Amino acid sequence: MGKILVVASDKGGVGKSTYTANTASMAVNKGLSAIILKADKNNDLISWNGKRQANGLLPVPVHEAYGDISGEITRLSKLCDLLIVDCPGHDSPEFRSALTVSDILVTLVKPSSDFESETLMTVTEKVRIAQKSNPKLTPWVLLTRINSSRPRHRNAAIELDKILRSNEIWIQPLKSRLSEIDVFEVACNEGAGVHDVSRASSLSAAKAQIELVAQEIGII
Ligand SMILES: Nc1ncnc2c1ncn2[C@@H]1O[C@H](COP(=O)(O)OP(=O)(O)OP(=O)(O)O)[C@@H](O)[C@H]1O
Ligand SMILES: [Mg+2]
Repeated sequence: MGKILVVASDKGGVGKSTYTANTASMAVNKGLSAIILKADKNNDLISWNGKRQANGLLPVPVHEAYGDISGEITRLSKLCDLLIVDCPGHDSPEFRSALTVSDILVTLVKPSSDFESETLMTVTEKVRIAQKSNPKLTPWVLLTRINSSRPRHRNAAIELDKILRSNEIWIQPLKSRLSEIDVFEVACNEGAGVHDVSRASSLSAAKAQIELVAQEIGII
């Protein structure tokens, strides 16, 4: 049975699908078999996969399921080393049912946005309830889209990290973070992840960030 990683948030547009695509690409480029389960009704990862196939990149099967997806997660996890579940950007039956059977949750937040960081309260409540029936669930906050040349971004990341570490009731933040880097987006536009790209500005930083997160959450 492969590892089950749920990527979810109670807010849209935080970077879940971008992180999902880049992590799946990294996994297959390292020789792991990866499947994406799309639990969000928008078409982004289907379109991404169509471009991926057209560009002859290493295959990443993309499946879809909605509503209570726990059975489909368990079934697909037996077919691969890594199953990544991309959830909708709001509280949903998909997010809640995924938490009951998964190994790892990554919830992404841009620390400089209160609209995003304030959703950690409701995500934490859901996770703590789910852990009562699924004690193996390990949740993480991934700070993302940080522009390190902006003091406001840097300071917000320091401050949010401090608040989360000050009380263990909070989902704890990963030490590894993602920056706001164009190549994450550019790669996705081509059905790729940064591990499929051979040359781009900040490519080695982007690849290193995806790998450091993967090591910290224990999927590689
Ligand atoms: N680390 C990053 N660096 C640069 N751009 C990013 C990064 N992460 C995400 N983006 C961009 O931010 C936007 C939102 O990303 P994405 O669609 O992955 O979010 P999402 O959480 O999946 O949204 P939704 O909740 O609507 O599904 C996209 O334009 C994407 O290219
Ligand atoms: Mg998405």
